Amino acid sequence: MKEYSPKIKILDDDLSVDKYATSFVINQVRLQPSSVITLPTGSTPLGMYTLLSDEYSNKRISFKLVTFFNLDEYWPIKKSSPSSYYHYMNNHFFNKVDSPYENRFIPNGEADDPNIESKKYNNLLEKYGPSDLTILGIGPGKTAHIGFNEVGSDYNSKTRYVLLSKETHDTNLKFFDKEGDMPIGAITQGISNILNSKKIILIAKGVSKAWGINRVINGNIGPDAPASFLR
Ligand code: F6R
Repeated sequence: MKEYSPKIKILDDDLSVDKYATSFVINQVRLQPSSVITLPTGSTPLGMYTLLSDEYSNKRISFKLVTFFNLDEYWPIKKSSPSSYYHYMNNHFFNKVDSPYENRFIPNGEADDPNIESKKYNNLLEKYGPSDLTILGIGPGKTAHIGFNEVGSDYNSKTRYVLLSKETHDTNLKFFDKEGDMPIGAITQGISNILNSKKIILIAKGVSKAWGINRVINGNIGPDAPASFLR
């Protein structure tokens, strides 16, 4: 396996990270208006979505021709749930810009069967992909997950239903009203779907990501730290 050295950029504050990530998306869309872009949810990219929405409001960019894929979605979850990634994406980005509904894909948390939904999602990624650009966050603490590819995820993994690790469960519980509302699993793009992307940037903020970033850059490449497969 060929190993790549990721380019590392350390910035002074959250806003600088948001601006840096935003510049990748803007440059990609300007260069190729019909790009395919994979997006994350979570707290880390919120500032990026605000800046991207501002760029659109100020008429500096259009997302009309872009195809967006999301990395993951809880399963099962109602699209209308404020904790769903479907809701997150509409709320923080899609409803603020000119992205047509038919150009955005998020695994369907309302699907009857997560395995069938995962297959459909893989087919969509194959049809429209590979992504020209993928933006990732990294799971906190020792999860080092990308998407919801938790510890143990395989290099060849594709979109599939996964169980969330205890650490992910405990971290993300705050996004749900109560314990019983939080699904125990999710549908996530697999490591191989992510690695198919022509360009990948991973953004990390705050001390809870320090262990994972160090592990990913300096440790061995393997399923015990799924983000290490980026190398
Ligand atoms: C979310 C996703 C996850 C998050 C990660 C970090 O779509 O794919 O891998 O990027 O859990 O989440 P935050 O940004 O909330 O720390």
